[in-house]
Amino acid sequence: MLKTVVCVSGGGTNLQAVMDGIRQGAITNVEIVRVISNNRKAYAIERAKQAGIEAVCVSPKEYEDRARFNEAFLRAVDEAAPDLIVLAGFLVVIPPELIRRYENRIINIHPSLIPSFCGTGYYGLKVHEAALARGVKVTGATVHFVDEGTDTGPILMQKPVAVLEEDTPEILQKRVMEEAEWVILPKCLDLIANGRVTVKGGRVHISE
Ligand code: GAR
Repeated sequence: MLKTVVCVSGGGTNLQAVMDGIRQGAITNVEIVRVISNNRKAYAIERAKQAGIEAVCVSPKEYEDRARFNEAFLRAVDEAAPDLIVLAGFLVVIPPELIRRYENRIINIHPSLIPSFCGTGYYGLKVHEAALARGVKVTGATVHFVDEGTDTGPILMQKPVAVLEEDTPEILQKRVMEEAEWVILPKCLDLIANGRVTVKGGRVHISE
């Protein structure tokens, strides 16, 4: 069993897609051992509790400075002794120490086709606003391993989604979630849990 910690900040629909995938058998060999939120009000916490999964909150607001928050966050992860950490809409900068300690064991879902519309300042709805402002005809979602840069780690999977004439950022966000994020994140977890993913020289290889 791949012991997995899922980090969240908001609605938790990606967390839900993973929990549903496990329950329905589309994801095998994965156990979510803990959900960590930086936001006490995140609906994702409610979703975890409803599924009987332990959920804890570690908020930067509740610590004196960033260093103390980082320590507490690291502790919350380490206590759960995960094999994998999933950033499922986690909108807080991850402590560099955590990235080093869990090298190639942290994945993130980003709502665009990296390297478009990613990096500092591109998160949530802002990504879709930027895609519409640029007038791209295709966007999508990316699952990647996390390195010390922002959205720069090895790409594991991408799925394109068409942009339509009448799209608003909200409509596009919903379509990218439904057609791409909730599809590829569960798929990636299943592949990792079943030993099919390797990272070498900054590239991801998926075996048959
Ligand atoms: C998702 O669209 C996810 O891709 C995005 O936040 C949303 C969280 O939704 N993540 C980022 O923008 C990371 N840079 P959810 O809480 O309903 O899963």
